[in-house]
Formats: sequence, C-alpha cells, structure tokens
Amino acid sequence: MSKTPVAILGATGAVGQRFIQLLANHPWFTVAEVVASDRSAGKTYREACTWRLPGGIPAGVADLSVKTLDSPLKSKVLFSGLESSVAGEAEAAYATSGHAVVSNSRNHRMDADVPLLIPEVNASHLDALAVQRKRTGGGYIVTNPNCSVVGLAMALAPLHRAFGVELVGVVTLQALSGAGYPGVASLDIADNVLPFIGGGEEEKIESEPQKILGEYNGVGFKPAPIRISCSVHRVAVNDGHTMAAFVKLGRKASPAEAAQAFASFRGEPQERALPSAPRHPIHVLTEENRPQPKLDRDCEGGMAVSVGRVREDKLFDLRFEALVHNTIRGAAGVAILNAELLQARGLLP
Ligand SMILES: NC(=O)c1ccc[n+]([C@@H]2O[C@H](COP(=O)([O-])OP(=O)(O)OC[C@H]3O[C@@H](n4cnc5c(N)ncnc54)[C@H](OP(=O)(O)O)[C@@H]3O)[C@@H](O)[C@H]2O)c1
Repeated sequence: MSKTPVAILGATGAVGQRFIQLLANHPWFTVAEVVASDRSAGKTYREACTWRLPGGIPAGVADLSVKTLDSPLKSKVLFSGLESSVAGEAEAAYATSGHAVVSNSRNHRMDADVPLLIPEVNASHLDALAVQRKRTGGGYIVTNPNCSVVGLAMALAPLHRAFGVELVGVVTLQALSGAGYPGVASLDIADNVLPFIGGGEEEKIESEPQKILGEYNGVGFKPAPIRISCSVHRVAVNDGHTMAAFVKLGRKASPAEAAQAFASFRGEPQERALPSAPRHPIHVLTEENRPQPKLDRDCEGGMAVSVGRVREDKLFDLRFEALVHNTIRGAAGVAILNAELLQARGLLP
C-alpha cells in the first residue's frame, strides 16, 4: 500500500515537531509538506525550525521547503498544530477547499458539526462529518480536545459508561511543554507553582468533556449532563499533565469496581489494531506513589493514560490521579490516531 502524503500546519512549533517525530516511519502516512508563518517561509525545514525533540529531524523532512498558509497544498490530509490566532480561519478555508483537517487547535472544537474526537471514547461522533461535508462541499475538520481534557475524558469514559458520572472536581498540574516554546519564563517557574494558565484553560476543561462524553443524534451533539469544576496549575515538569480528580457517580462503585472499569476500557482503535493505538488505553497503577510524570508519561509510547490512587472519597464517591503525556496522547498522538481511524473507516479524501 502506498503511503498517504500529509502536510503539517504549524510544523515548526512544539506540536508540529511532535507530529513530524511521530510520523517518521508511520506505516500509512508520510510527511510531504510543511507549513509555518512568513518568518519561516522559503527556508528549508532544517533552517526554519529549532528542533527540540530527541533523535533529530527525520530524514525526508529536513530538506522540505516551508510553505505558508497562502501556498496551494498537494496533500489532501492536513495535521494542524497552528497557533490559535490563525488556526480558525485557515482550517475552515482548507476544509472548504476539500482537505481533511485533523486539528489540535481550540478554534473549531465546539462547532455544531465538528467531532471533538478521542477514538476510544466517541468514534460514533464521526457521523457528524456527513452533515459537515454537505456544508463545506467535501472537506472537513476533525478536532482533538485540550491536552488535559484528553486524559480526563479518557479516565471518565469507562466510569460514565458503567456508573454514570454526575459531578467532577479536578485539580491539574500541567507541564511546561503545554505552553509551547519558550513558554513560561524560567525565573517564573523555577522554585514555583503558577496557579493560572491563560487561554481559557479552566473553561475548556469544564466544557469539552461533556461534548466528548455526550451523543451525536444525527443533527447535533447532546452534551452529557456532567458538571465539572476545575483549578489549573503550571508546574516545573517538562512533559506530562497530572490531574487529581474527584467524581460523584449516578450509581455507587467501589474503588475495585472503578479500577476494573479503567483496566478493561477498550475502543475501536484496539478492535481495529490501529498503528498508534495503545494495547490498553488506561493503565491502572497500584503503587501508592504513582502515577508520576517522570516514570509514567511514556507508557505505551505516550499513548496510554495512567491512573492511580483509586480510592473512596468522603464528599464525592471516588478520587484518583490521572496522567497524560500532553504533547503525545494529549496533542499530536491523538490527532494521528484520529487520522488512522478516519483512514480505517474510509473517510479520508
Ligand atoms: N503544546 C501543547 O501541549 C498543546 C496541546 C494541545 C493543543 N495545543 C494547541 O496546538 C497549537 C500549537 O501549539 P504549540 O504549543 O505547538 O505552539 P507553538 O510552539 O507556538 O507553534 C505555533 C506554530 O504555528 C505557526 N504559526 C504562527 N503564526 C502563523 C501564521 N500566521 N501562519 C502560519 N503559521 C503560523 C508557527 O510557525 P513559526 O515557527 O513560523 O512562527 C508554529 O509552527 C495551539 O493552537 C495550541 O493551543 C498545544
């Protein structure tokens, strides 16, 4: 099978570099085009990009000439890690011109006919593409959630399926790479915790899971009736967002029943054995001091969420810790898994 050529929008950024790293040697996709701002245009990728991931720039990408958003693109499949100030308009224009845009940016996540997709959780939301494609004339946008929401929604999904989730309190401890490069100034974060993250981070965490865990009824998304309260923090960790979650359930469940629901959670990526699918989307850790970003963020190549300290809560029903690799499962990795699901379902142009 010949590989599908893809373009990376925002290719020089933190998420763009992860796309390029994760797509090196991908069995189905090959990076054929890279797009960034006017600052990078016309340079080779090697010249335009300060590469910050282990392993160096993959062969085949380093000498590609960086294009701008005005350049015509040959690739029909576009992965977007564009800065949100430009992503909204650019992604909509690409969809209208027949491209499949698989995006990380927040701009279109809550649109009425755009799936906010985590393939293990809400693959059925791809039904909305039929409606969206009528509107655009053929192309479409599929988004993935905010990086913390990917971890939170994956952890809530098995609980919601088995017991019904009603209320969630969540405190996040978010990694530096979530702010892109250079991110937070070193003198602000060394020896410190910052109890605020801009860009509406708390609002995204309080609103995206309901769309993901809700239903698509052929006309629109019916959000799950879950109330979420969130408090976010930036901490001096390079990669890996940790969350302390407190959950009230519709039907009581013991910590052992909850742990069983986490551990047995599977979805369409596992059934189809998609190339980037983790064997177990959620790993339940039983040690009292896990999960930890340093030890657990790379679980199954960064594609699995680690859950630990599943225990009773006196105010809610359950509490637990969850950890997600924010630039892999929380960004580029989930977007690649979304594209694999689209390809497996025959939905790529
Ligand atoms: N970092 C994370 O963990 C994470 C997780 C989930 C979602 N996201 C989302 O993903 C997106 C990218 O985040 P990031 O952390 O990778 O940001 P970043 O490191 O600042 O990268 C932004 C990218 O957008 C490009 N860009 C900026 N203005 C442009 C323009 N006018 N035309 C074309 N390209 C332009 C930049 O190109 P130049 O190098 O040429 O300026 C760069 O490639 C954001 O929407 C963010 O909210 C990030």
